[in-house]
Amino acid sequence: MSSQRKFFVGGNWKMNGDKATINEIIEFMKGPINTNTEVVVGCPQCYLMYTRQHMPASIGVAAQNCYKVAKGAFTGEISPAMVKDCGCEWVILGHSERRNVFNEPDKLISDKVGHALEAGLKVIPCIGEKLEEREGNRTEEVVFAQMKALLPNISDWSRVVIAYEPVWAIGTGKTATPEQAQDVHAKLRQWLRENVNAQVAESTRIIYGGSVTSGNCQELAKKTDIDGFLVGGASLKPDFVHIINART
Ligand code: 13P
Repeated sequence: MSSQRKFFVGGNWKMNGDKATINEIIEFMKGPINTNTEVVVGCPQCYLMYTRQHMPASIGVAAQNCYKVAKGAFTGEISPAMVKDCGCEWVILGHSERRNVFNEPDKLISDKVGHALEAGLKVIPCIGEKLEEREGNRTEEVVFAQMKALLPNISDWSRVVIAYEPVWAIGTGKTATPEQAQDVHAKLRQWLRENVNAQVAESTRIIYGGSVTSGNCQELAKKTDIDGFLVGGASLKPDFVHIINART
């Protein structure tokens, strides 16, 4: 972990929680949290305002998706302007569930990232390969293509945190080994060096997601190019605090 990059831990609640469980999460999030870690929770749209109002101010709140324009006839969508109006600063975009369950293509995700940045949000774009792609030795090709699609729409890298989430590790209990994750993170950083510039490569946080738990987070957090985590299931439980404090 480079000292240049502040450790970053995001919780992605996905489509889970209600006011009662969010209250419980808010309680444990008041626990002893390392101030050297930047923490953001991604909550369902309908609870953005509630979560923002009740979560400690030091913890960021993210939407889990938003559309590529500011307003209009797009039934069921929300815009970055609305996320901001709810008091939130972040959005997770291109999560593997958006890509694979809702068939969002690279171009749409890229346009969403571009508009969210223009609107002033900070963005966590997600990338990652499927099991058959890894087994076919196509991991690099897949994640580089996902990065390439994002590139034209990223104006300000200081407001971007890249989440590498191998699809085969999400919700499966099958975490990438620290070596597997480090290998892809290092390649992504090298890709940034070659396709953006050295400063962006050194300063951009690349976080790992996929079955991160309090049991495996410390070994992962020791790796040079792993700058934090995006956590699904474990972010709903008090154990999340241990993951936030993985480098303590
Ligand atoms: P799990 O931590 O539940 O595997 O989910 C990872 C994820 O998708 C975070 O965005």
